[in-house]
Amino acid sequence: MASTRMKLINLLENNRAEYISGQELSNQLDISRTAVWKHMKQLELDGYQIEAAPRKGYRIISNPDKVSQNTLQWGLETKWMGKHLHHYDQVNSTQDIGHELAKEGAPHGTVIVADEQLKGKGRKARSWHSKKGEGIWMSIILRPDLAPVQAPQITLLAATVLAQVLAVEGDVEPQIKWPNDLLIDHKKVSGILTEMQAEQDHIQYIVIGIGMNVNQDGSKFPDDIRYKASSLKESTGHAWDITKLIQKILKKFEHTYEVFLKEGFKPIKLTWEHYGYRIDETVTISTMKKKWKATLVGIEADGALQIRNEDGSHEKLYSAEIEW
Ligand code: BTN
Repeated sequence: MASTRMKLINLLENNRAEYISGQELSNQLDISRTAVWKHMKQLELDGYQIEAAPRKGYRIISNPDKVSQNTLQWGLETKWMGKHLHHYDQVNSTQDIGHELAKEGAPHGTVIVADEQLKGKGRKARSWHSKKGEGIWMSIILRPDLAPVQAPQITLLAATVLAQVLAVEGDVEPQIKWPNDLLIDHKKVSGILTEMQAEQDHIQYIVIGIGMNVNQDGSKFPDDIRYKASSLKESTGHAWDITKLIQKILKKFEHTYEVFLKEGFKPIKLTWEHYGYRIDETVTISTMKKKWKATLVGIEADGALQIRNEDGSHEKLYSAEIEW
């Protein structure tokens, strides 16, 4: 069903200037004219404006500005990422749906996108503001052939994907704040939440949640985060097409994941450190036991932050408060 609709959209898109008759579409798609008509109705529900002229046929007048399974998959240039894609108007959390689908056997690369989340989850049991149509609220199911200790590599990989997409598409200078916050001009625009189901030595699946503030006006952020959160619109001065942005992220994610499989973590580490926030700078760090100054050096393959203390010794941090 979905692939016939994709073919139909392609036919209409490639003939935008002309009408295509119902008979021609029915021949090319090898479906009845009634089925063509039903697909057209579905496209209209997806937000496509379609003109149906008697004795001439159909043509697309305008593309939808809303996000749907069809609009996301049409023009998605991936081989496996997002080939199974679920779009919802409203959910509690795309992470929960990700877990449900993964338990039912959803394949590697399954993507879940929602326009709105009622109970969006952030790291450390925080909530994540996910208002309707204002951002990317998306989870990706991955089934990497890795040990559970390597899972942080996937999160770090995801952060490099987002940084690179924003740098190219937004002409901005994103930075990755350890472990995986995306900042523009020192304000958070995106966060990543990784959840995993694993046996002792093997990951069954990972649900990687990406939240990105896209089209919010700055004043829309709740008081408690307004001074430290931003959106792409706020930092670039213009609104963004959420569908296109998701497609770019999925394409880059697929590519980076394949590089990771072929070449290991090294290229990811280098990219992460290129975008790393305050790398090579001295910051104040505190744990339950002490507070001290150290220089941020980079990241380790297990996701730890590498620091250099004032006496020259190197240390790995897994959790600590950093005065950014
Ligand atoms: C963070 O705390 O920075 C991580 C935020 C992750 C939010 C995303 S939005 C899509 C997915 N669904 C959720 O409920 N959370 C993640």
